[in-house]
Amino acid sequence: MLKKTLISAIALAGAATGGSQAAELTISCGAVGAELAMCEQGIQAWEEKTGHTVNIVSTPNSSTERLSLYQQILSAQSSDIDVMQIDVVWPGLLANHLLDLREVLGKDVAADHFETIVANNTVDDRLVAMPWFTDAGVLYYRKDLLEQYGHEAPETWEEMTAVAEDIQDAERAAGNDKMWGYVFQGRAYEGLTSNALEWMASNGGGTIVDAEGEITIDNDKAAQALDLAASWIGDISPEGALNYTEEEARGVFQSGNAVFMRNWPYAWPLAQSEDSDVAGKVGVVKLPHGAEGESAATLGGWNLAVSKYTESPEVAADLVAFLTGEAEQKRRAIEGAYNPTIASLYQDEEVLAAVPFFGTLYDTFTNAVARPSAPTGDNYGRVSNSFFNATHSVLSGDLTGAEAVSQLDSELSRIKRRRW
Ligand code: GLC
Repeated sequence: MLKKTLISAIALAGAATGGSQAAELTISCGAVGAELAMCEQGIQAWEEKTGHTVNIVSTPNSSTERLSLYQQILSAQSSDIDVMQIDVVWPGLLANHLLDLREVLGKDVAADHFETIVANNTVDDRLVAMPWFTDAGVLYYRKDLLEQYGHEAPETWEEMTAVAEDIQDAERAAGNDKMWGYVFQGRAYEGLTSNALEWMASNGGGTIVDAEGEITIDNDKAAQALDLAASWIGDISPEGALNYTEEEARGVFQSGNAVFMRNWPYAWPLAQSEDSDVAGKVGVVKLPHGAEGESAATLGGWNLAVSKYTESPEVAADLVAFLTGEAEQKRRAIEGAYNPTIASLYQDEEVLAAVPFFGTLYDTFTNAVARPSAPTGDNYGRVSNSFFNATHSVLSGDLTGAEAVSQLDSELSRIKRRRW
């Protein structure tokens, strides 16, 4: 009896793995909000389908810290992690350590995905990562409070500042002394690069470095955008925002203590969940713009890559194909508001019912502004570090906007002379 059960279990496993041996893989997943749980569920479905096993390593929430972890692992040519969740700004930095997925999965593997992301993930004609979800900054606001105090969702940063101030003051006067006007990602890390690019680009101040690799940071509109953001600190934004990543901002907003929040779409289902104090009271619109520009959302997003040092390239690539496939992207869109990278899913009724702003802000997602990772290639890490550090100094009151952009111009020129 026992023997028979054992034999059929082996036969079953054999069938699921197509006769080959069951492999054991390790994947690194992000853990921001519900990200890790969503990753686990997808992986479990693949394990059941294939009979392989997957260990999940969770990674730090800050994209900047994740990058240094990956750089350590990859430069040691370690096979510890087979599949890696990589940021949209990293393909140029990590390409040499990653497999060309078209070689393993076929040349049409990414045909249904947004072309811009596929192009972003293609380095020297090699597709080094499959698009998993895209991202763009959006403005969350308290519908109930704006209505109560007679305001519309703001169109410009100046309007947002004024409305934030007004409601914050009124709420505090009414006894809610923890209320703040605006929370965002102000820590010196990749999230601040994303926020500050939005302030500048939406004020006609450019994108730090343009698509041709020219440094454009030293201009008045960029400086002005930084000065306006610095004026928020201690006024409509807490001093603590100088150390906020996505999750700290979400914590304040979700406990009812902020009128506005800049964040990525993942915060939507969490803000609407049962244990949120603001469920049913939240609206999402595109980010405000400056006096001389149009709303700009930084392009974010994450991709799945296979390490060159893996011992199981085919199986690892199969896992990537499964997780980035349409069914899994649909599930993640509905349950986690992770923006699909497959255009047709933006017309899917179940997806739109779960996340209405995937429809209303479709243009925001498809026209998001890229950080200058493509033109700066494997120097992007240095460029972003200089940028977020200088921006952080302005927010902290140590530099003016004009000083920061001029200093950045010299720093970026030095980086460019040495390398790009
Ligand atoms: C989000 C974006 C990613 C960005 C990061 C910054 O995770 O998807 O592209 O680098 O935020 O904090």
